[in-house]
Formats: sequence, C-alpha cells, structure tokens
Amino acid sequence: GKEPIRVLVTGAAGQIGYALVPMIARGVMLGPDQPIILHLLDIEPAAEALEGVKMELIDSAFPLLEGVVATTDVIKACEGVDIAIMVGGFPRKEGMERKEVMSKNTSIYKAQASALEQHAAENCKILVVANPANTNALILKEFAPSIPEKNITCLTQLDHNRALGQISERLNVPVRDVKNVIIWGNHSSTQYPDVNHATVITSNGKKPVRELIADDYWLNSQFIATVQQRGAAIIKARKLSSALSAAGAACDHIRNWVFGTPKGTWVSMGVCSDGSYGIQPGLIYSFPVTCQNGEWSIVQGLKINEFSREKMDETAKELAEEKELAYSCLKDQANG
Ligand code: NAI
Repeated sequence: GKEPIRVLVTGAAGQIGYALVPMIARGVMLGPDQPIILHLLDIEPAAEALEGVKMELIDSAFPLLEGVVATTDVIKACEGVDIAIMVGGFPRKEGMERKEVMSKNTSIYKAQASALEQHAAENCKILVVANPANTNALILKEFAPSIPEKNITCLTQLDHNRALGQISERLNVPVRDVKNVIIWGNHSSTQYPDVNHATVITSNGKKPVRELIADDYWLNSQFIATVQQRGAAIIKARKLSSALSAAGAACDHIRNWVFGTPKGTWVSMGVCSDGSYGIQPGLIYSFPVTCQNGEWSIVQGLKINEFSREKMDETAKELAEEKELAYSCLKDQANG
C-alpha cells in the first residue's frame, strides 16, 4: 500500500477540529486510498479534551487511519508533517481590542512558524484557518523564511463555497454546476465576492451568471453582503461559528491544491501576492487560482471593471493595515 501522509491539525480540540479530523481520517481530504497519520495539537487547558478526541478517533476504527499523535508539544506535533492545517488560535472575545487579539495571534504564529520550519517534512503544505487568517499566514511566512512562500496559504474556500451556494440557491441549480466565482482579498467582511466571471452549466451549455441573473441590485449589493456577512449569520443562528462548512472547505482547499483543479475552473485561495492585479507584493491575499502538480498559480488576464477595482483595493488596504498592526505588536513584544 501507499506510505501514510502525516497531517497536522492545530486547535484540534476545538469546534472545527472536531468536524475536520473525521473528514481527514475518512479520506475526504486526500482520497479513499491514502493512509493517514494524524498529528493533533492543542494547548494545555484543552489537553484532556484533546485526549477525548483521540479516543473517539480510535473508537471510529477508520480503515485509513494508521496513527494519532495527540500532544500539547508544538515540536512533537510538527515532526515530519507533510500537511499542516492551522486551526488553533486566540479567538476574539467580547470587549477585547483588535490589537490585543492580533498580539496573541502574532506570537502564536511566530512560534509555530519556527516549529514548522525546523521540524515539518520538506515541502510541507500549510493552510492557515485561524483568524485573522491572512495575517496569521503572513506572520507564519515571514518567520519561516526557509519554507517556500508558495507552500503557505490561508483559507478563503469557505467564502468561495458560500458564494457558489448563494448562486445555486438563487437559480435553483445544483451547486456543482456553478463555477468560477472569485473571493478577492481578506477573509473578513471586506472580502470581495466577484461574480463577473462566474458561469453556470445549463442544458443549453455554459452561461454567464450575469446573463442568468439580470437583477443587478441583487448581484452588486445583496449577494456581496450575504457572502461577506455569512459567518456572522451562522454565529447568530447557531450561537457558534461555522465549523462543518469550515472543515469541509479546508478539505476542499487541500484536495484542490494536491490533486489539481479541473480544466477551465478555478478556486479561491489566500496566497502570497506577486503583484498580480496590482496587489501589493508580499501580502497574503485571496486570488483565483488553478492548481497543477501540487502547485497553485494565480489566474492571469481577467478583466477588472471599475466596481471590482475599488473593492479589491479596499480589502488590500485592510490587509496592509493588519500587517502594520501585527508588526507593531511584534515590536511591543520584543521590547518586553
Ligand atoms: P475553537 O475556539 O472551538 O477552537 C480553537 C482551538 O484552538 C481551541 O481548542 C484552543 O484551545 C486551540 N488553541 C488556542 N491556542 C492554540 C495554540 N497556540 N496552539 C494550538 N492550539 C491552540 O474555535 P473554532 O470554531 O474551531 O475556530 C478556529 C479558528 O478558525 C478561529 O480562529 C476562527 O475564527 C477561525 N475560522 C476561520 C474560518 C475561515 O474560513 N478561514 C472559518 C471559521 C472559523
């Protein structure tokens, strides 16, 4: 049989972790014939809960699961991992300043960057899920200079899937027939869900979404707001943030990255900007990407109208500000 792949999930005792680890162990992420060794990391206060997750994984008798390493030791967690899903982080609590949350997360991601750099397998693929996802990924990239920057990404596939879902509901078509929406920018409410290049497969062939939905008010305003605020709507309804959809999207992200995107379609990923579409190089920004041979590349040459340009720049501006805030936190930490 195949050699097992080691997959790290940080924050594994949390909500998303609880939904994600069984998906990975069932082959949703890496296919039905790929043995897996799961590495689960959480922090000391969650150590017992983490042990419980490990017990349930054993009790599930997943045929693909060859081992579980459950630990609060970041070095042990990172040892030899081929894929790292970074879900662990410090959540924003009521009444907390943005800077305080940023400060907790920059110090976590700085430390985990070093652990991954020194202990993960060569060519480890990294997906940051924990918020602020783009900026956590940026810190990880900057403090793990020996990890190729193309190996560090953040999750906007959930936003991408939410956009597909809204189009599918509106047109009453299966979601699998909706393609090529784009999430630009930050995984935050400034993200820009763009339907200008999206298509739907119909019985009369492939049609632009803009042709099938003539309601510009809905497309330019309601659709965008619904996708941007979907996370908040889930919290309001569930009293908890998205977990099963976030876990599913993390599997989609890695599967697309490893196995490639189907011809003619793209997905959205937060990746290091090379200056494409005028976005400041070095920011972790969500772009449309295609994947082949285990590597993503940014889709080039899409026409950007005035409306889109403005929204793409607005979310880039927020990311530049987050970067600055993260660095001022690191400076404060360095000065004690
Ligand atoms: P949660 O609070 O249930 O779980 C987070 C876990 O991380 C906890 O078990 C906690 O103990 C652990 N943790 C904290 N610091 C850690 C550290 N230094 N190392 C390892 N583990 C650590 O939160 P939930 O709902 O599972 O969400 C996780 C993160 O994902 C949050 O930051 C959330 O905002 C983010 N998120 C991102 C989405 C995206 O699309 N990018 C979608 C949904 C959530």
